[in-house]
Amino acid sequence: MAQPIPDITTFFADNPLINASGCNCSTKGMLDILFKSAAGSVITKSATLAPRNGNPEPRYWAHPDGNLTINSMGLPNCGIQYYLDYFKRLDTSTNKYEHARFISLAGMTLEENLQMLDMIFNIETQYYMYIDVIELNLSCPNLIGHRQLAYDFPELETYLSKFIIHYNKLYKATNRHYPIYFGIKLPPYFEFWQFDAIVDILSRLPDNYLKFVHTINSVPNGLVIDIDTEATVIRPKDGFGGLGGAIIKPIALANVRGLYTRFKAAKLEILIIGSGGVASGEDVFEFILAGASMVSIGSQLMIEGAGCFTRILSELTALMEKKGYANLDAFRGKLKNV
Ligand code: DHB
Repeated sequence: MAQPIPDITTFFADNPLINASGCNCSTKGMLDILFKSAAGSVITKSATLAPRNGNPEPRYWAHPDGNLTINSMGLPNCGIQYYLDYFKRLDTSTNKYEHARFISLAGMTLEENLQMLDMIFNIETQYYMYIDVIELNLSCPNLIGHRQLAYDFPELETYLSKFIIHYNKLYKATNRHYPIYFGIKLPPYFEFWQFDAIVDILSRLPDNYLKFVHTINSVPNGLVIDIDTEATVIRPKDGFGGLGGAIIKPIALANVRGLYTRFKAAKLEILIIGSGGVASGEDVFEFILAGASMVSIGSQLMIEGAGCFTRILSELTALMEKKGYANLDAFRGKLKNV
């Protein structure tokens, strides 16, 4: 008898929280903490083919009031092989809450991303049996000499089509009976024509493989200045870096809402992971009301540690009880206009 295919919404339904890739998730020790936390799912730091040290330090700074972070990490990570081995060895005592396992990929070129797919879908090592979701990061703002692909719409379409065709071919050669769920991490868009353009591209992708978008990545190329030292607070790229924290929340909510309404209008079944300035249960509520299926936590995880998931979930539960909502579907996407 054919095995049932799990619905991707089962990962997203009960507990919508996930760490944002890049925040405290690059080593085994950090990932173990996340897998023991109250998050519903766990994602790795974006992996490249070879390990990377990243940009020179200081490369991360948080405002003392917790509302603003700036980073220019430059993709420091242990390399794809490390994360594949991590998932293969992850046992049920560490992953006792059965968090969904997300791997984030950020190859420097399409070829590098395709090579990482080859490693995931290797028939002998079968790493594909230990991963639930692949997130392709198209929006790292901090690579010296690289532009963000997700702002180059014509090139993005070709790139994603080639990625998906390769992915499909590899998956079909395995003994998995359904594909690993696949999604992309997007940068913030600011104009309605940009929302229209990205939705257009996603609607034309082959084979209905794109299951979610994760929006937004850090707001690129902000600049924070220290008055006392009269210097930038981070060193790489002359102090320019990706912004996070509460100050970016309105931009993030606009991107969730802008994509959610367009996906609905185009009848596209693409889920949204909302990200950007989430620090409380109230914030999670706002993202779900705007249309998110899942919500990721970045800056607050860096500031507070993995205990933030327990606090934020209990705040969300208390708010839902106060409002009389039995589950997330009762208010998901139902934002009203005044
Ligand atoms: C990096 C920063 C990001 O904001 C991101 O989404 C991915 C990578 C980095 O510089 O490592």
